[in-house]
Amino acid sequence: MSALSRLIPLVVLLLPICALGSSDEADFQAWSGTANAIRSAMQASIRTSWEQGTAAGAILEWNDAEYSVFAPNPFVSNGQFPLDSLQYAYSAAVRQTPDGRLSQNINDALDGAALDGASAGSVVLMGTFTDTGRASYWENAADAELNYILNVAPRTRTGAISARDDSAQYWSDGVYMGFPFIAYYGAVKNNGTLLQIAYDQCRLYRDALLIDGPTGKLWAHIYDDTTSSWIDEGIWATGNGWAALGMLRVAVTIQKTSFYSSMTSQVSDLLSWVKEILDGEFAALGSDNLLPDYLTGGPNFGDASSSAALASVAYRVATLCPDQFGSNYTVIAANIRDAVLGGVTNLGTVSPVVNTLIWNETGLLSTEAQAFTLMMLSGWRDWIGA
Ligand SMILES: *[C@@H]1O[C@H](CO)[C@@H](O)[C@H](O)[C@H]1NC(C)=O
Ligand SMILES: *[C@@H]1O[C@H](CO)[C@@H](O)[C@H](O)[C@H]1NC(C)=O
Ligand SMILES: *[C@@H]1O[C@H](CO)[C@@H](O)[C@H](O)[C@H]1NC(C)=O
Repeated sequence: MSALSRLIPLVVLLLPICALGSSDEADFQAWSGTANAIRSAMQASIRTSWEQGTAAGAILEWNDAEYSVFAPNPFVSNGQFPLDSLQYAYSAAVRQTPDGRLSQNINDALDGAALDGASAGSVVLMGTFTDTGRASYWENAADAELNYILNVAPRTRTGAISARDDSAQYWSDGVYMGFPFIAYYGAVKNNGTLLQIAYDQCRLYRDALLIDGPTGKLWAHIYDDTTSSWIDEGIWATGNGWAALGMLRVAVTIQKTSFYSSMTSQVSDLLSWVKEILDGEFAALGSDNLLPDYLTGGPNFGDASSSAALASVAYRVATLCPDQFGSNYTVIAANIRDAVLGGVTNLGTVSPVVNTLIWNETGLLSTEAQAFTLMMLSGWRDWIGA
């Protein structure tokens, strides 16, 4: 072997590393094969309504980041066609039930969810300005979904939109399912009333579900307002993840509109409620660098799903408000990140994860865990870039 031919592979090897500015960038690149496998396992999974919307949100951040609410100017077309996200949106709209719920028309549409379909609402409405040849199709689908959650879904006594279609119930995940879409609709249509409604719904859900936990105030899982009783008073980590993900998106959406100057206190409330969740959950981090499935009221096995969700939130808030959320949060997020990515199986599945239907057991494949992990990677990427 000549000296030159020995040198060439070395040069090829060193070039990309030399081009990188920080060890985080190199780490990020090193996980890119894993990231692809995480994404394809999500795409391959059979999905219910909330999983369709959550997967769409993850793909938006990962593949079409310029249209996610974390981008500088996401509510108008920039000439790019967000193909991957619109493919998810299309399936959600094709599977819309006549009452307006997106992605709902599977399993005879009988799962009883009132808010879950709205989790695909933002990508559907995005079609109106990114796929103008089909603008009225996207508009009708988004309008029917908005009409369902504002005017058809049951309400609690305080006016919160129920997570269920047959009774008035608060589920912590509803904060992600329904309220970012209401805010997004308000942002795209320049409607401040809807931005305020999105904020109010987050506030009402927090009022109903916040309880004292061993590491501070956190959210319980499910309260039935119809019978005035808890269905699950446990502090479920994934539920806290959903609440934080949802409130963060509502806050960021409001911030990007012309209404922000008159809604700064709403945004600062939302961010302080996100911080409350991060503080309570991160204080409970296990020695495996994963959050316990339940802090109270259930088993405490390490759960990569909720852990990824809240690490994504930490990266986003640290990028957004570095003064309020400094290195305390990103140091923990990095530990979680390495634990979650280190646990990904040869099928690209995130593990160990809570079973998405039986919350006190582990499961084999969680579409939402796949999505949360892509959100975490997107948040990490954008934090490195900032
Ligand atoms: C804002 O949206 C609400 C709910 O759809 C609607 O009733 C109201 O007329 C809208 N306001 C404006 C200014 O478009
Ligand atoms: C970060 O953690 C240190 C040590 O626990 C604490 O003193 C400090 O107030 C924290 N900073 C923030 C911004 O939370
Ligand atoms: C999980 O919860 C169900 C319903 O509350 C209960 O019957 C079951 O025993 C629990 N399983 C574990 C492993 O805690």
